[in-house]
Amino acid sequence: MDAHQKKAAVVGWPISHSLSPSIHNLWARRTGLNAQYLPIAIPPTYEDFAAKLDELQAAGFAGINITLPHKENALRYAAKASNGAEKAGAANMITFGCGGPYADNSDVEGFAQAVKGIVSKEKINSALVIGAGGAARGVVLAFQSLGVKDITLTNRTKDKALAIANDFKTATIDWGKEQNIIDTVDMIVNTTSLGMTGQPPLDLDLSRLQHHAIVADIVYSPLETPLLKSAKQKGNATVDGLAMLMHQAVPGFRQWFGGEPIVDQELRNHLVTILNNRKNEC
Ligand code: ATR
Repeated sequence: MDAHQKKAAVVGWPISHSLSPSIHNLWARRTGLNAQYLPIAIPPTYEDFAAKLDELQAAGFAGINITLPHKENALRYAAKASNGAEKAGAANMITFGCGGPYADNSDVEGFAQAVKGIVSKEKINSALVIGAGGAARGVVLAFQSLGVKDITLTNRTKDKALAIANDFKTATIDWGKEQNIIDTVDMIVNTTSLGMTGQPPLDLDLSRLQHHAIVADIVYSPLETPLLKSAKQKGNATVDGLAMLMHQAVPGFRQWFGGEPIVDQELRNHLVTILNNRKNEC
């Protein structure tokens, strides 16, 4: 045990496929910091989550990233939370400090950073957000922070879309009817699990999509989802799930390890290699 080593972790259930350790440990190597970032599995209940977080704090961990299914548990566990985490109703970061565990949500900033350049260059004013889970809340918040005013949500379970629309003053369109507005939106984001390996693809006809419109997917396995593939075939610009994943890791690394993490092509190539190797596993 190295008493000087800074420690952080990502927790979830399951956790073995998380790319976060690969991101943080690459940055730790690059910056020469004595830091270690571990994947830790915690069964889904709040009691399991709280007990493990208490244990990690006592063991000297600086902070924890949280992935499914614990993002709401993280908010409940924290003594304090940022505005972003409160608004999103979920946290993907807990920092252990003197004031107790502090919850934050870097998914919002991660998505905003991933699309920021493209949103200002292409003058994105309207967006269609597909899905209404925690990720959709983060995407809506990120769009609003970037000044995208005209946001429409669609979701299989309509009530969940209506709840977000009510919280964030956005519009909704019935599931299956989004085709009616496809030729008017500047950007489309899939926040559902459709298109993920083992899931059916998202059934969306992009033939009437405007030429400048951008298509983003938060799914990163596979990296090129059927949705992104058809957008590329039409000649539209795309943003894949890795972009958001890399950017959401930045605040944690900065805060817990004290180094300056850089999102660049080398990091992306490293993660793409890991994903490709997984594809070849039986
Ligand atoms: P997250 O926090 O990552 O957003 P989530 O809260 O489980 O995860 O949300 C998953 C989203 O994917 C939801 O919008 C869900 O739709 P429902 O609210 O109707 O469940 C959507 N989703 C998952 N599987 C789907 C499917 N087979 N068809 C349509 N939508 C699906």
